[in-house]
Amino acid sequence: VGGVRIAREDVVKEDDPTNNVPDTIFSKIGLQLHRRDNHPLGILKNTIYDYFDKNFTGQFDKFDDLSPLVSVKQNFDDVLVPADHVSRSYNDTYYVDAQTVLRCHTSAHQAELLRDGHTHFLVTGDVYRRDSIDSTHYPVFHQMEGFRVFSPDEWSGSGMDGTAYAAADLKKTLEGLARHLFGAVEMRWVDTYFPFTNPSFELEIYFQDDWLEVLGCGVTEQEILKRNGRTDHVAWAFGLGLERLAMVLFDIPDIRLFWSNDKRFTSQFSEGKLGVKFKPFSKFPPCYKDMSFWINDEFTENNLCEVVRGIAGDLVEEVKLIDNFTNKKGRTSHCYRIAYRSMERSLTDEEINNLQLNVRETVKNKLKVELR
Ligand code: PHE
Repeated sequence: VGGVRIAREDVVKEDDPTNNVPDTIFSKIGLQLHRRDNHPLGILKNTIYDYFDKNFTGQFDKFDDLSPLVSVKQNFDDVLVPADHVSRSYNDTYYVDAQTVLRCHTSAHQAELLRDGHTHFLVTGDVYRRDSIDSTHYPVFHQMEGFRVFSPDEWSGSGMDGTAYAAADLKKTLEGLARHLFGAVEMRWVDTYFPFTNPSFELEIYFQDDWLEVLGCGVTEQEILKRNGRTDHVAWAFGLGLERLAMVLFDIPDIRLFWSNDKRFTSQFSEGKLGVKFKPFSKFPPCYKDMSFWINDEFTENNLCEVVRGIAGDLVEEVKLIDNFTNKKGRTSHCYRIAYRSMERSLTDEEINNLQLNVRETVKNKLKVELR
């Protein structure tokens, strides 16, 4: 990664209480799916590169090999994430130690690249977030960050102020990108909040009867430009989730498939071919197992999901809260339904029963909850 190999002991530290990186996460570091030209994520990255090359001849500098191990300062402070923002919590982010995280977004590289003098850049990489489990969420995924700086002479003749000019250019650029990728697709802009942009927007795309958030963007906060040598300039930034877009473009029904080495998956994609529809090699039946327990104050769904993922790996498709009540004594019970399904083969009853037994034991011991 970034020319540097990351060893297990660099990121997994079982007896360090400031570390929460499990082996399942370590095993993904360095795979760099976005750098494989025959992988849907690599094909998508290259197609986005083509758009920027065509429309801004050679102006955008491209980075796709920056190490995912970054400082808390890079990941949060440099992009003005407030000290008490949830994304900083151990429940949401993988910490290697108190000062080091696995980046949770490619925005972690904005400040250093600006400081190095870059004014137009694209950063693609693997990002890491603790999360719940379903067909569109996986604790490792890929983002592309785009960043563009304008100097005052670029907007002075426009009759707009710098912020309005950058916002208009941003929306035009991203709508153009969406058309380059999708042709005709239903999209909508939604106002939102990010600590590092103002105003901030999300672009959503209509997919499988639902609006799917595919990117966040906005006009960069002045403070970031000022701190990094671009006083009096304005800039826009966007961060897009490659899996989300690729699932729509290639009809990939489950995010786990991106990690599959099964030839029946990998052989369906080839360099330069965006949007070839994926043909599922067969849908194996899911198997559902419910488990109920009394939670404690420390319980979080992300912790539960990590335990399940640690045991079942990519055989778990979804973990869903199906019942939640508090009794007269004030104790709260949760019932979760775990869906097991392999993307590649059918699972035997015995195999699933063993997984579920193991999950129950580990949930009890690690999360200190009382099974019912
Ligand atoms: N970093 C944001 C995210 O991960 C996306 C973003 C990037 C938003 C740049 C605005 C500007 O959700």
